Amino acid sequence: MDGELMKMSFHLECIGCGSRYDPDQVIYTCRRCGDLLSVEFDLSDVPGNIEDAWRGRPLSVWRYRELLPVSTFERRVSLGEGGTSLNRCIRLSDKIGLKNLYVKNEGENPTGSFKDRGMTVGVTKALELGMVRVACASTGNTSASLAAYAARAGIECIVLIPSGKIAFGKLTQAIIHGAKVIQVKGNFDEALRIVRRICHTHRIYLLNSVNPFRLEGQKTAAFEIRDQLCGKVPDKIVIPVGNAGNISAYWKGFMELHKIGLIDDLPQMIGIQAEGAAPIANSLKKGLDFIEFVENPETVATAIRIGSPVNWKKAVRAIKESRGTVEKVSDKEILEAQRLLAQLEGIFVEPASAASIAGLIRLVNEGLIDKDETVVCILTGHGLKDPDIVVRQFARPIEVEATEEAVIDAIMRKEKIAVGVHYSM
Ligand code: F0G
Repeated sequence: MDGELMKMSFHLECIGCGSRYDPDQVIYTCRRCGDLLSVEFDLSDVPGNIEDAWRGRPLSVWRYRELLPVSTFERRVSLGEGGTSLNRCIRLSDKIGLKNLYVKNEGENPTGSFKDRGMTVGVTKALELGMVRVACASTGNTSASLAAYAARAGIECIVLIPSGKIAFGKLTQAIIHGAKVIQVKGNFDEALRIVRRICHTHRIYLLNSVNPFRLEGQKTAAFEIRDQLCGKVPDKIVIPVGNAGNISAYWKGFMELHKIGLIDDLPQMIGIQAEGAAPIANSLKKGLDFIEFVENPETVATAIRIGSPVNWKKAVRAIKESRGTVEKVSDKEILEAQRLLAQLEGIFVEPASAASIAGLIRLVNEGLIDKDETVVCILTGHGLKDPDIVVRQFARPIEVEATEEAVIDAIMRKEKIAVGVHYSM
């Protein structure tokens, strides 16, 4: 079975009116009602021994190839994505007061964020569709990832980013991989609106998370968590939310495992947004069944500085169906969580990722997560993408003369060089 793709049938389906579409066409939203599309597999086709095939392959996105919607596995565009570690956090658990806390470190992916899971599938799909130009709008990670996968595939890449509002490391990645980087004098939401229109009127393949094939790659993180917990499912998944694709992808992954009988229970999905960019949290807390968009989103977590999340309907569905919740956290809580994770667990994440830890701390304090529950926080991107934010908060290392005495003297002055002295903003 390994290497040879079992043919599994799938189609595109509108999440609103249920209209079905052939997956071999370039389409992002329903032609009838304009709603989002989802890739749907005929799960009754899944062979009973699928797990045996999976077990024989390394933990990675393509381990689960039978449930990925491409037909050319041998010609996949891959950089070795997925297979990220699931770390049990003893010291952080003690601090927070939880017994079973794990973090899924998606910063270990090839370009340093979870986006690579989506791009390996999305760019493979682009080639299957005969597309030779790809594009996205991005708060940074999507552009870094798409630029790398487009380079790998040998196709042209165009990225639109909000001018001056993405972390330097991410911009650097898009540049070195040879993407055409266009800074838009506006925010992410405006950039996305523009790129969606351009991809509609030109033969350019859109690889934002409105593209349902990308989310198929991202759902494999749910499969990995189940495998890493030896077939068990956590009680809660805590995940930062921006454009709301990733939380939807995880839920789809767990639902598929449930439907094919590989798990008995489902986790509760908990989305975390930054206070200044929290359209979903604000709207659900008000009891609305639609989303009031935030016009001028602002947060130190630039990756999730999004006011009009395109996948909000899928995300709200995931939260409600799983009996989960959505919470918002302040920039101060985000930065404190980033420091805690780095200094208690040795894991350096970018601020958006730390939002999941900040949200967890808040929910534990509010009594909404029980101490005995098993919780997995998703750490979406690596800290090295955004070093400026750290440098701005912490004291600069002290400088001394190049003598033994001076160094010993500096070591003795513990209070000044103590690791972790925190200077609040
Ligand atoms: N965490 C990080 C590090 C991100 O880069 C993003 C999204 C998210 C969380 C939120 O994921 O959008 O699926 O809800 N970044 C996108 C980008 C928007 O352009 O890189 P989401």
